[in-house]
Amino acid sequence: MSEVEKISILGAGIMGSGIAQVASQSGYRVTMVDVEDRFLQRGFDSIMKSLSKMQTKGKITEDRVEKIRANIKGTTDFKHALEDADLVIEAVPEDLELKKQIFRDLDTTCSMHTILASNTSSLSITDLGAVTKRADKVIGMHFANPVPVMMGLEVILGADTSQDTLEVIRKVATKMGKDPHFCKDYPGFIGSRLLNAFLNEAFWELFEGIASAEDIDRHCKQQFRHPMGPLELADFIGLDTLLSICEYLHKELHERFRPCPLIKQLVAAGHYGRKAGKGVYDYS
Ligand code: CAA
Repeated sequence: MSEVEKISILGAGIMGSGIAQVASQSGYRVTMVDVEDRFLQRGFDSIMKSLSKMQTKGKITEDRVEKIRANIKGTTDFKHALEDADLVIEAVPEDLELKKQIFRDLDTTCSMHTILASNTSSLSITDLGAVTKRADKVIGMHFANPVPVMMGLEVILGADTSQDTLEVIRKVATKMGKDPHFCKDYPGFIGSRLLNAFLNEAFWELFEGIASAEDIDRHCKQQFRHPMGPLELADFIGLDTLLSICEYLHKELHERFRPCPLIKQLVAAGHYGRKAGKGVYDYS
């Protein structure tokens, strides 16, 4: 493929909307797809909040905010959104069966030149490629939250991802202002494997009663100079997402990733973190 011009993003959640925003800021034509209008609306609200923050800080003008917003279409019409996309980035929940179904559908709907990327934090890119007839054009693009702020991008190569696909994605990453880190397809890749071990361990410390949530977080901020403590960060990522990743890593990499029961309990209670108004901390 010569040049990526249009990017479609599946999923208007925290990650999908962040990716849509950055893609639009970088000059791509963007379509954001979700299953219901209310999810799209929430995605656009999140984009506007981020753009307003940038405008308030004097990083962009009002005119540019309008252009970036206008450049993103929102739709619930999966087929229509994909017709002329050069790159599709899937950002739906961390459920392998759901993602496989989506990749099967993408493979039959998208043009043969379209690259199919997943924003998965840990699941196998090879497994996703294997359900398509274009495993050479399937790749991982793992962004970090908040997408407009974090400069890294983890690029994951499945067993059959081609060098051509890698080069196209390297260009897209650079145009988006991201610094790509390349990684083989192995559970949890570079980042989630490290981060989940750390965050899960913080929950075990809380569960075992060795310190309060506030003291665990303050300790990591002050002693390690982390911008957020691990429990605060877990709330920011979403405890449902954290649990899905931990469960997958536990299955694939065994005992050291066994999720702390406290994460399961908070998720069972619907306390998913910041997005739900309650997680380890109360945001109401
Ligand atoms: N959009 C645009 N700009 C934003 C923003 C957003 N959504 N959020 C923050 N910013 C900007 C702010 O305007 C501010 O800009 P200036 O430097 O120009 O003042 C800057 O970012 C810092 O923000 P704040 O001053 O509001 O607050 P902060 O200093 O506490 O930073 C943070 C907020 C950037 C979120 C910081 O706490 C941080 O980096 N936290 C760690 C985040 C992290 O680890 N993310 C990775 C999670 S793992 C993941 O996403 C992948 C996975 O697989 C689950």
